[in-house]
Amino acid sequence: MPPIKNLTIDAERLWDDLMQTARIGGTAKGGICRLTLTDVDREVRDWFKARAQALGCAVTVDDMGNMFARRRGQRDDVPPIAMGSHLDTQPSGGKFDGALGVLAALEALQTLHRAGYETFAPIEVINWTNEEGSRFTPGMIASGVFAGAFTRDWAIARQDRKGESFGEALDKIGYRGGEPCGAHKLSAFFELHIEQGPYLEAGGKEIGVVTGVQAMRWYEMTVTGQDSHAGTTPMPRRHDALLGAARIVEAVNDCARQFPEAVGTVGLMEVRPGSPNVIPGEAYFTLDLRDPDATVIDRMETAIAAAAERIAGELGLSVALKNVSTQPAVEFDKGCIASVRAAVKASGYSSRDIISRAGHDAAYVARVAPTTMIFVPCRDGISHNEAEFSRKEQCSAGAQVLLQVVLDYDRQLTERHRRG
Ligand code: HGY
Ligand code: MN
Ligand code: MN
Repeated sequence: MPPIKNLTIDAERLWDDLMQTARIGGTAKGGICRLTLTDVDREVRDWFKARAQALGCAVTVDDMGNMFARRRGQRDDVPPIAMGSHLDTQPSGGKFDGALGVLAALEALQTLHRAGYETFAPIEVINWTNEEGSRFTPGMIASGVFAGAFTRDWAIARQDRKGESFGEALDKIGYRGGEPCGAHKLSAFFELHIEQGPYLEAGGKEIGVVTGVQAMRWYEMTVTGQDSHAGTTPMPRRHDALLGAARIVEAVNDCARQFPEAVGTVGLMEVRPGSPNVIPGEAYFTLDLRDPDATVIDRMETAIAAAAERIAGELGLSVALKNVSTQPAVEFDKGCIASVRAAVKASGYSSRDIISRAGHDAAYVARVAPTTMIFVPCRDGISHNEAEFSRKEQCSAGAQVLLQVVLDYDRQLTERHRRG
C-alpha cells in the first residue's frame, strides 16, 4: 500500500506553538531557561496537557513525571505508536531543543484529528522529564528509568546543587503521576530533533535519517586540598584544589584531542569555600565524555584518572572520580529507519544518514521499543545556546516527515496484525 500522501501538517500552527511556548521561561536574549521541575516547567506541562486534551487525547503521567497524551485508534489493545521529546531546557537553552520534538508530534496528532483520520494503533505524544540533566544529573534520567537503566528510587533521590531532591521537586509542581515508570508499553517511538551540529546544514540536506547515537558517559570529580589564608600561606605550602582542578581540565582537553571523534567537556565547576581571600580547599566539577566507540571512552577515562592522580600528587591534593551514567552507543531499529526513509521519499525532502552526537531520550527508549529519530538542521549547528535557530520550513519539513513516518508505521502494524 503506498504511503498516505494527502495529510499535511500546518506549518504556521506549529511555528505559532513553538513561539508561544518559547515565552514560557523565555529569556531577554530570545532563548529559554526552563529547568526541569520548576514553575515554568509546570506551566509548559499544563499548556501541553490542555492542548492535548482539547484534541480529545487522554493525558496520563507516570511516577517520574513523564507525560503521555494518547489519541485512540481502531485497536486500543495495541500498544501505541509514540512520538515525542522533552520540554525542559538548558539554563541558556534555545527555542527548538526538545520543544520541536514535542510540538511537531502534537501538530502531527492535530493533523490526524482535524482530518478525522482513524489510525489502527493508538497514537501518543510523550514529554520526557529532565532530558537535559542540567538541574538533576544525569540527563535523560526519566527515559532511563522507563528503559530500566536506573531504578526509580535512585532517580527520585537525585539532588540538585541546592540539595532539593527530584522527588520533592516533582511533588512541588504536582506532576508525580500514579503509573509506574516503564509500565507503559509502546509499539514504536519516533523522536524529531534539531541536529545540534553542523553537518545537515553544511551538506544542504533537509532531513537527517538518524541511524544511532554515540556513546556517552558522565562523571563527577572532587578535588580536595586545604582551605588556607590567601595572604599568609607561602606558595610552596599551598594545597590549592582549584589549581589542581584547572590542570585536570587542561588534561581532559588534551586527552579528548588525541582521538579524532572524541569530545570531553567540563561544564559545571563549584569551588569551596568560594571566598576571594581563601585558597580553595575543594573543587567539584562534572565531566562529559563521548565518542561513537565506547572503548575510546574507556581509554580516555583511564588516561584522565591517571593524570588527575599525578596532578594531585604534585600539589598535595586528593581526587575522587565518580561515574554517574554510562550510555553505550545505540543503533536504532532498522524497521523504524525504513519508515523514515519511506516518509522522506514520500515527502520529497533531501536527506542523509547521520549518527547523533547529542544524547536523547530515544537512546534509552530504544532499549524497550523499536525506536529511531529524525533530524532537521539548525543554524551554524549551534545549540544549548540562546541563539539556537531553525527556520519555519525546516521545522515543518521535520513535522511532515514525522507524520508520514507514523502513518507508514501504522500501516505496517495493520498488515502485521492482519497476517496474525
Ligand atoms: O547532552 C545532550 O547531549 C543532550 O542534548 N541533552
Ligand atoms: Mn534535546
Ligand atoms: Mn539538549
